[in-house]
Amino acid sequence: MGVFASLKAMFARLIDPPGSGTLRIERVVPYPPAAAPAAPVEQPDRRLRIHRGFAAALPVEDRFGLSGRTEEVDRMVRGVVWERKHVVVFGARGSGKTSLVRVFGDFADEVGQVVLYESTSGNIGFTDLFRPFLESLPGTGRDTALMQRLAALETASFGPRELATALGEVRQSTVLVLDEFDRIDDPAVQSEVAALMKLLSDMHARVQVVIVGIAANVDDLISGHPSLRRHMLVVPVGPIAADDLRSLLETCAGKSGMTFAPDAAAAIVHSAYGSPYHARLFGVESALVANARGSDRIEMADVMRGFQSAFAAWADISGNDHRIFARAVGEPGVNDDLLRLVEHATLGAGEAADASLGRAMVQVDPALVTMAHGAVMFRDSLAPQFLGLMIEHGVGARRFGGQ
Ligand SMILES: Nc1ncnc2c1ncn2[C@@H]1O[C@H](COP(=O)(O)OP(=O)(O)OP(=O)(O)O)[C@@H](O)[C@H]1O
Ligand SMILES: [Mg+2]
Repeated sequence: MGVFASLKAMFARLIDPPGSGTLRIERVVPYPPAAAPAAPVEQPDRRLRIHRGFAAALPVEDRFGLSGRTEEVDRMVRGVVWERKHVVVFGARGSGKTSLVRVFGDFADEVGQVVLYESTSGNIGFTDLFRPFLESLPGTGRDTALMQRLAALETASFGPRELATALGEVRQSTVLVLDEFDRIDDPAVQSEVAALMKLLSDMHARVQVVIVGIAANVDDLISGHPSLRRHMLVVPVGPIAADDLRSLLETCAGKSGMTFAPDAAAAIVHSAYGSPYHARLFGVESALVANARGSDRIEMADVMRGFQSAFAAWADISGNDHRIFARAVGEPGVNDDLLRLVEHATLGAGEAADASLGRAMVQVDPALVTMAHGAVMFRDSLAPQFLGLMIEHGVGARRFGGQ
């Protein structure tokens, strides 16, 4: 539908890389006299290809760019199209929630669903949350019953019941996607959204809601509505399998006109701890290092320097967490505990907190938050991978303030 089509066109323009041949540099070593070593020749246009090829900041737009999420997409299509359920998609920051719902939107669109996407713009009320969808609903402009209902909502604020009544007039299957739902922290608004879902299901409306947000579990996203559960599909967006991350890296490198040495790719896969965002970020930085020394092959040494630049950029914007981590990292025993916490937070090791995790949590306590239902998370869910780099590769482990 419209919103997806225009986003698709925009990303297609951004992603399509310009073609370029590989430039071979012949190294001439004059003798005598000895000259300064030849400066590395970097290919400036390949820098752009690298940025586009790895696209660390952009959600995946088409199904071919999505690695390791076949099962999640499949569950969403089945749940929405066949079972007419609402969906809650949740996972850590950068885990690929937006990418997943966009590709889901692509599939749903193909089977005749209208998919409307909005990203929540801050802590707003129920009316403001849903108003942007109203003018794009299918049937506006021609279906009189729907037009009358919508006209009644136009000027006043409305609640779940009024909205459900209007949406009940929509004749074509429609999915409303609310991304960044975690920005709504007013429990009253969360409750109203839950009430809307329940009303829509009870009245067999053709409109379903997909909410997307950062959370450790679904209860943190939508507060207790037990009766809603049977109308709802819950899709956790967890870590991506190592093999899928590796092929993601190879695809990104291929688009950039580069290749990975096997150990270099393996080091990135390991340090990304299942996160496609970190894999792309470490990948782009390493590729830029290799390119800067005039090579189209990314070696282990490039990855080590790539880690440093990715880390430096993170530390610049995450000064507090950097300070907390730098104070915590140190003795081998402490580091082992901290690494277990990194694994626990990223790969969801699943085991209950034990003494070792407890000790690590105390060490980095100010960087953690406890969610509504007791789960402990890194306040910035992109941070644990950087703690991993500090411990495993000694990146940025400078002590602050002499402590
Ligand atoms: N399955 C995937 N395969 C390949 N790349 C992915 C996948 N999922 C996400 N990515 C990449 O990871 C990065 C983060 O993805 P995305 O924006 O979808 O995550 P998010 O969970 O919505 O993040 P946020 O919590 O910040 O909204 C993007 O660069 C995206 O291209
Ligand atoms: Mg997102």
